[in-house]
Amino acid sequence: MLFLLILSLIYPTMSWPDGAPCVHAAYESMNPLEAVEHQGGLQLSVPPYEIKVDQKCYWRNQPIGITLQGLNESVWFKGFVIQPFEWDNGKLGDRMGQLMRLDDNGSWQQQCFRYKNSATHSHDENKKHMRMWWKADEDSRTVQFVATVVKHQTMFWVRSVLSTPIPPCRISRFGIINYVPPLPTVPPPVKLFKMETNRVFGNERITPLVGVCEEMNGNVTVKKHIYKVYRILQLSDGFHAIPAKEQNVNNVLPEQNGAGPIIPNLK
Ligand SMILES: *[C@@H]1O[C@H](CO)[C@@H](O)[C@H](O)[C@H]1NC(C)=O
Ligand SMILES: *[C@@H]1O[C@H](CO)[C@@H](O)[C@H](O)[C@H]1NC(C)=O
Ligand SMILES: *[C@@H]1O[C@H](CO)[C@@H](O)[C@H](O)[C@H]1NC(C)=O
Repeated sequence: MLFLLILSLIYPTMSWPDGAPCVHAAYESMNPLEAVEHQGGLQLSVPPYEIKVDQKCYWRNQPIGITLQGLNESVWFKGFVIQPFEWDNGKLGDRMGQLMRLDDNGSWQQQCFRYKNSATHSHDENKKHMRMWWKADEDSRTVQFVATVVKHQTMFWVRSVLSTPIPPCRISRFGIINYVPPLPTVPPPVKLFKMETNRVFGNERITPLVGVCEEMNGNVTVKKHIYKVYRILQLSDGFHAIPAKEQNVNNVLPEQNGAGPIIPNLK
């Protein structure tokens, strides 16, 4: 119990405060559950968000504006991932085209610069409207913008905020009429161990995984991951992570093989 209390002091905010990381699992799943702190937050209700697209159809190489926003002005969000997918009668295919910035708003960024088809937040301030642009160098397929939206750490909708599908103007000027988005469904399970793999390879955009410890729950050993701390202290026996309000080293993390807390790659 005490341990859980300490945990909640350690990470009161989102686990990806500066955007979804450019790692394969998070890119493919668009699922915040890739980070353990988000457990229990999946919402299967109709999301209170929408993606508005400026036009009903698109022309090749001509950017169109899209806006992710709440259904009304009192709804905000902290984080998101948005990706454009080929839409074929309700079935989603490959990602298509690229997302681009035509204003100076730095509140979003490309999730992976190599592939410009996934945008994510760049800070976790509350947001009401996120505007960006999209274009494709083809005009044979219909596109649908699909978003995961995080209201806060334990409340998010995974891939269930959907734009109306936007066909090429060459095929239909009027778009898809009377489109009704499907209800949210349970996303495929995520593999949390990938976060550890990521730590080993040192992706800096992930909040550092500062420790893994095991806790007894009945006769089951539960592995706990600790992601975020406020202060790093160098003591005689190495680096230690100290939450801002908990200055006692011994209370931070159980010792691992007598080696003290695990701190990755501190310079
Ligand atoms: C805005 O939308 C939210 C979520 O759908 C709803 O709970 C709230 O009552 C709405 N507020 C107003 C002023 O319509
Ligand atoms: C950028 O977008 C955010 C989120 O909607 C908004 O709060 C902010 O005012 C915008 N900044 C600029 C410079 O347009
Ligand atoms: C503990 O182990 C016993 C025997 O293996 C098992 O019957 C029992 O269900 C376990 N208890 C818990 C809480 O898992």
